[in-house]
Amino acid sequence: MTIPARLVEVLRSAKAVAVLTGAGISAESGVPTFRDAQTGLWAKYQPTELATPEAFRRDPQLVWDWYDWRRKTIAKVRPNAGHLALTRMERQLTTQGAQFTLITQNVDSLHQLAATHNVVELHGNLYRVKCFAEDRPIEFWEAGEVTPPRCPECGGPLRPAVVWFGEALPSDAFNHALQAAAQCEVFFSIGTSSIVEPAASLPRLALEYEAVVVEINPEETPLTASAAYILRGRAGEILPELVKEVWG
Ligand code: APR
Repeated sequence: MTIPARLVEVLRSAKAVAVLTGAGISAESGVPTFRDAQTGLWAKYQPTELATPEAFRRDPQLVWDWYDWRRKTIAKVRPNAGHLALTRMERQLTTQGAQFTLITQNVDSLHQLAATHNVVELHGNLYRVKCFAEDRPIEFWEAGEVTPPRCPECGGPLRPAVVWFGEALPSDAFNHALQAAAQCEVFFSIGTSSIVEPAASLPRLALEYEAVVVEINPEETPLTASAAYILRGRAGEILPELVKEVWG
């Protein structure tokens, strides 16, 4: 794929770059995406039966077991060339004195494992837990005989510290993401279907502030029509090429 020359130039002189990633960037690591009809998690389960506070109230063990299964699946996978290229992008931009913010909807820790530093987790993290009743973050927990494990403070069930359907995003993370989207000159939307709000509003905000919006995705999304550059294909192939083209 040829990386547009103008985009290369803009990145070389950029002072602030923001990146939003979704399940698609982890697909090449072997993590199933949410909306992929063939292999996605949605094919086997109804997420609305699993990823909601109502589901947890109805059947805490089922929901806990599902997350346990996802943790085990994800524990076996490694960051791919796409994650690693973003780490290199962060290093290059930091060296040229620019701000780099990686906003992710993923809960799999693969960006952190790839050693990207400035990662903003919009939807929480699969490995953290909190008290269901009181929202208290719990630092140490282990899987015991009782599932879900119990809150050491109130004895109620613990839940994964991820954002479920119908829940608000962690406000610090979302504010940080809004600020990065408003301040950047280039905004990348990578491997996300751009349909889940409010994450999908971030590139729109960047557009309002006249950022160059770049989409990397093998498929069209609702963002495609307004992106300045559309790089069609897999993140694990396009990102290393792009980083090489810009920074050598
Ligand atoms: N490279 C880049 N993009 C890819 C790749 C790839 N190798 N493979 C798939 N994609 C794209 C798909 O075309 C799709 O547009 O990744 C996107 C994945 O979309 P979703 O599964 O909807 O994931 P995402 O956008 O992250 O979902 C958002 O929804 O279920 C909730 O909280 C969950 O964070 C999740 C949110």
